[in-house]
Amino acid sequence: MPGVTGDHYFSAEPGTAARPREVEFTAAGRDYTLTSAGGVFSADRLDPGTAVLLRKADLPAPDAAGPLLDLGCGFGPIACVLAGSAPAAIVWAVDVNERARALAAANAERVGAADRIRVAAPDDVPADVTFAQLWSNPPIRIGKEGLHELLLRWLPRLAPDGVAWLVVARHLGGDSLHRWLVERGWQVRRHASQKGYRVLRVTR
Ligand SMILES: C[S@@+](CC[C@H](N)C(=O)[O-])C[C@H]1O[C@@H](n2cnc3c(N)ncnc32)[C@H](O)[C@@H]1O
Repeated sequence: MPGVTGDHYFSAEPGTAARPREVEFTAAGRDYTLTSAGGVFSADRLDPGTAVLLRKADLPAPDAAGPLLDLGCGFGPIACVLAGSAPAAIVWAVDVNERARALAAANAERVGAADRIRVAAPDDVPADVTFAQLWSNPPIRIGKEGLHELLLRWLPRLAPDGVAWLVVARHLGGDSLHRWLVERGWQVRRHASQKGYRVLRVTR
């Protein structure tokens, strides 16, 4: 997968040198310049799957109340765009990777949303928080079992009328994930398909 570096999926503290860098992209008509570093997912550019997700899915309305969840936030591009689209919403940015969390927190500050983007390790999200929206470019490379566990942990935390937006490359199992979610009782729509990526809209 382009941009994937080393141990970012598996370690809470990546061993690679940080080497900070900037990632520039445009989403929803707004320009973003975020800080990235070695040891996190797609450190050098906005991941093409994430770009498809942000282009094709329905970003939250300006009056969306949230809370919103960026599951597997990396350096935080999705969380920052969600915070920009929904300026009143709380956005949780969750990742196992400590460096990713530090970068996401720095980027929350950079986009002026440090007061609303709550960067956390998975176990640090209070159990009573439910999400109006869950957004994720999920960590496919942790394996099917790990991915299923991750989704079984977080999808049930959607509010009753909540919606999840997932992007998965077709060649990495986008269609089989779609089928698995349907088997588990979720309503799933293939909302868009572009450049080999599926954007799935998941509801109860
Ligand atoms: C495909 S990357 C997406 C990163 C970022 N959202 C982006 O679009 O650039 C998936 C992220 O999930 C994180 N991750 C892996 N296992 C996780 C878990 N169990 N809980 C939360 N995040 C996890 C990885 O550290 C990685 O940052």
